[in-house]
Amino acid sequence: MKPVKVGLLGTGTVGGGTATVLKQNAEEIARRAGRGIEIDFAATLDLEQAKKVGLDHARLTTDAFEVVNDPDIEIVVELIGGYSPAKELVLAAIENGKHVVTANKALIALHGNEIFAAAQKKGVMVAFEAAVAGGIPIIKAIREGLAGNRIEWLAGIINGTGNFILTEMRDKGRDFDDVLKEAQELGYAEADPTFDVEGIDAAHKLTILASLAFGIPLQFEKAYTEGITKITAEDVAYASELGYRIKHLGVARRTVRGVEMRVHPTLIPHRRLIANVDGVMNAVLVQGDAVGPTLYYGAGAGDTPTASAVVADLVDVTRTLTADPNNRVPHLAFQPDQLSDLWVMPIEEIETAYYLRLQADDRPGVLADITRILGDLEISIEAFLQKEPREGVDKAEIILLTNRVQEAAMIKALQQIEALQSVADKVTRIRLETLG
Ligand code: HSE
Repeated sequence: MKPVKVGLLGTGTVGGGTATVLKQNAEEIARRAGRGIEIDFAATLDLEQAKKVGLDHARLTTDAFEVVNDPDIEIVVELIGGYSPAKELVLAAIENGKHVVTANKALIALHGNEIFAAAQKKGVMVAFEAAVAGGIPIIKAIREGLAGNRIEWLAGIINGTGNFILTEMRDKGRDFDDVLKEAQELGYAEADPTFDVEGIDAAHKLTILASLAFGIPLQFEKAYTEGITKITAEDVAYASELGYRIKHLGVARRTVRGVEMRVHPTLIPHRRLIANVDGVMNAVLVQGDAVGPTLYYGAGAGDTPTASAVVADLVDVTRTLTADPNNRVPHLAFQPDQLSDLWVMPIEEIETAYYLRLQADDRPGVLADITRILGDLEISIEAFLQKEPREGVDKAEIILLTNRVQEAAMIKALQQIEALQSVADKVTRIRLETLG
């Protein structure tokens, strides 16, 4: 059988990696897919660079629309990233009856509902394994491997850049900006690095995972997002003293009232495997009612790790080229007419435990005022640390871990504590999950 002709959009980090992996493992890939898979036409902004990554035998253009409109191309691989023109290109490819493979989490999280509906209408597939956690086959695991389960919750370290920064800060006491620069040089960071450090990239990925896990439409706008830019070296050290690691976690949980979808810095007990996922590595912990907890770990960014997921999708699409469109694995794991409209809860409604750090006067009664505010709101203290005033500072540092409470109660408590004469500045609040 003739090889499948692929049109590649973008020859940057992941595009280059995809060309490399397809070439390097061509024979094994053909044995798996039943046909060879060849990049026949590629769109690039840098023709020389495209040749360098081994695309010298492919047709090359600087106009990506030429590729999606080419009659010979059966599968379009979109690795440009961003919202536009990626969206227009993907919709044009679908309209032309081509299957699509994409690594574009922003595109799927924001426009996936529209894209999948268009693909459904045309009977083509849109595969996006590389959009979440790079090389980890987490989408296949949730969509297919865990299909027998009711998924209760999942929690993931799904931004390599953020995890790399937090790890380097903890281990080497390095500067935030310095580590971010290194991540950019290594090709891990997004074009706009605020997407990494403010949690937007992780929220894109979490939105996708929540839809696959619970069978709900993609609702990026309802995900709560908080970045890691305010985490200090002190917080990292105190968390450690109390037996925790601070990770930038994406959490999706099904509760009796609705669905939680949130990305924020989180204290995790250091004995949990996921708390020990360091550097650019990603991990996703999934709790299914039948299987219990399962953990998926691997490289969350980078050229060939992400290409590994792109090529797996290419093999999947190639295998199903002849299959009846109604008998394919559904885009969002559940049949399109079976998605449910579960309520996505605002952050005030979620329940979690907390780490609090505050500076207070070192005199009798101060701690009593703080604990009374917490007690009146039914917030119980689980652990406590007090550090003597540092030199030149007249306030003592108090660190508290609380039990699980509704965020609305914690907001009220923080307002009252911050209003105390004896307490300085803002209270640092980091959520805590035991993930048990
Ligand atoms: N910027 C992303 C990360 C790349 O750091 O994880 C992979 O999506």
